[in-house]
Amino acid sequence: MKQAESHVFYAPGWHQPYKIAERGEGVYLYDSDGKRYIDGIGGTHTITIGHGVPEIADAMAAQARQLCFTHKVKFTNEPQEQLANVVAKMAPDEMEHVIFVTGGSTANEIALQVARYFHIEQGNNNKYKVIGRRHSYHGRTNAALSMSGSLFVQREDMAPYQLDFPHINPPHCYQCPFNLNHPSCELACATDLAKKIEQEGADTIAAFIAEPIIGGAGSAIVPPPGYYEKIREICDFYNILFIAEEVITGFGRTGKNFGIEHWNTIPDLITTAKGLSSGYAPIGAVIIHQRIVNTFLNGSRTGIPTFFTYSGHPISCATALAVQNYISKHNLIEQCAIMGKYLKQKLQKLAEREFLIGDVRGEGLLIGLEFVQDRKTHKPFPRSIKLTETIIKTTFEQGLVLRGRFGTGTGKDGDHILISPAFIITESECDELVSILEASIKQVTRSLNLGNLS
Ligand SMILES: Cc1ncc(COP(=O)(O)O)c(C=O)c1O
Repeated sequence: MKQAESHVFYAPGWHQPYKIAERGEGVYLYDSDGKRYIDGIGGTHTITIGHGVPEIADAMAAQARQLCFTHKVKFTNEPQEQLANVVAKMAPDEMEHVIFVTGGSTANEIALQVARYFHIEQGNNNKYKVIGRRHSYHGRTNAALSMSGSLFVQREDMAPYQLDFPHINPPHCYQCPFNLNHPSCELACATDLAKKIEQEGADTIAAFIAEPIIGGAGSAIVPPPGYYEKIREICDFYNILFIAEEVITGFGRTGKNFGIEHWNTIPDLITTAKGLSSGYAPIGAVIIHQRIVNTFLNGSRTGIPTFFTYSGHPISCATALAVQNYISKHNLIEQCAIMGKYLKQKLQKLAEREFLIGDVRGEGLLIGLEFVQDRKTHKPFPRSIKLTETIIKTTFEQGLVLRGRFGTGTGKDGDHILISPAFIITESECDELVSILEASIKQVTRSLNLGNLS
């Protein structure tokens, strides 16, 4: 469809035509012309169990028949209660209470409000800022956008509404913002947080927010060992809450229940969304540490107004419950870890053949590729050649849906793509994905005349 033919306003880009996605099955999508695509990003890092699972559709229909919606201040509902039990069992120790929301942005907005109420309960009324990181994306709502530090979010136009939230450098060893090497760097990227807190005044800072493994904005940047342990120490020292932003990494995407489990760190709050319902219904969640819950239960209030009309929606909760039961029944988180290793190895082999690929990184089925001009110096391509966009466009034409971003190098340079298929992907489907990607990279290398680089 073209914009001129549609009453939908194509906000993401009105000059481009849109294919109509007609149906999905497993890791494949089909458009209305019958063309098949591998959904290499699981519908933006969301689909975990695959498209078109009948059990989930049945659970959604059954819930819609039984109870579609209630007033949440007067009632809870059975699927919400059951889902909270499941989430509490999956979450790190002592993180046993959940507020359900409507998605990732709203999870981050509510986490901020929980953090703020927590500090007010403790008598620290000045604490309101959230420190974020560059190369991060936390959503389109205003506070979430203010926490985001990625260049592609284009916050400038919204500057009049933006909150004065500071950002620190990302833990990106491949393009280290400090020009240091791990471990001799002594985790300068973590101590950057302490510096920023000192600069801003600890009495103004409510929380630090970070994706354990950076998703779309950084394409699976994995911080070095010891990073989050150090972050935890710093947050404790300054009485700042640590929000693990697991909108992408939550519910198995990195081969563990939550991405933060790759470090020995327990956060204060976890925000999460996409994998919770595998994209079958809109839902997000804020998981809260017991110490915070206790502060509220023993505090001055009888409640905090951290909800939306559709928070704890019975159909969304029933859907997410069916999805998590399906994942557990089919051991799909273990499967994600296994297939992640397989796919990463295949991509590492591809990097040996394709000199544009400088770095292959990630955990589980959250795998990023970073493209560079020079594999020795990691020099990025200039933004002007639009390498990421050209590769993504080419893979799409060849039947592979991927997503890419820029800005992990210096300034706006630094091209990277993120691969995050459903956990049910098979070895042969991984091989097909890699082969389309390889053909696309070769085609782009020729069309952009990059062949004479080393
Ligand atoms: C890491 C991360 N956080 C937050 C969000 C925002 O989530 P939503 O679009 O559900 O509001 C996204 C969306 O892509 C995301 O990738």
